[in-house]
Amino acid sequence: MISEKLQKFVNDQIAAEMWSSNLYLQMSFFLRHEGWDGAAHWMEQQSNEERGHALKMASYLLSRGGAANLSQTDDVPQSWASVLDVFENVCSHECKVSEMINEIVEAAIAEKDYATENFFRGFVDEQVEEEETAFAIVDKLKKAGDAGLFFMDAELGRRK
Ligand code: FEO
Repeated sequence: MISEKLQKFVNDQIAAEMWSSNLYLQMSFFLRHEGWDGAAHWMEQQSNEERGHALKMASYLLSRGGAANLSQTDDVPQSWASVLDVFENVCSHECKVSEMINEIVEAAIAEKDYATENFFRGFVDEQVEEEETAFAIVDKLKKAGDAGLFFMDAELGRRK
């Protein structure tokens, strides 16, 4: 059975994943309102992924005899300065999430809870991918400039 301390870590992470899901959904609404339907689609897909992470973590907690508690999530920002600003915020947010995941792995190692360590190492790998993708989009947006934004929007809209 998973310890009370690790349960708290995981439940905090579930809340963070749901906050991320809300953040990206709000970004999707904002982008669509601004006329960037491709980027809005990308962000909606990302929002769905984050909700999936929360569900996967809750399922893991329950399988280990823990209690999954969905606490109230804080409000998310409502608007951004530009498409680039949106994706720069994704980068900084994902870096924070990576730190949180690392802390869970460290706590699990300290308790010799190798199952929890192993489970969250999967998310460590996922965070590497998420950060890489977000930073690559920021890089391309900077190179594209205003003129290339329509091309970038079309590319982002192809996300499956
Ligand atoms: Fe589920 Fe992007 O962290």
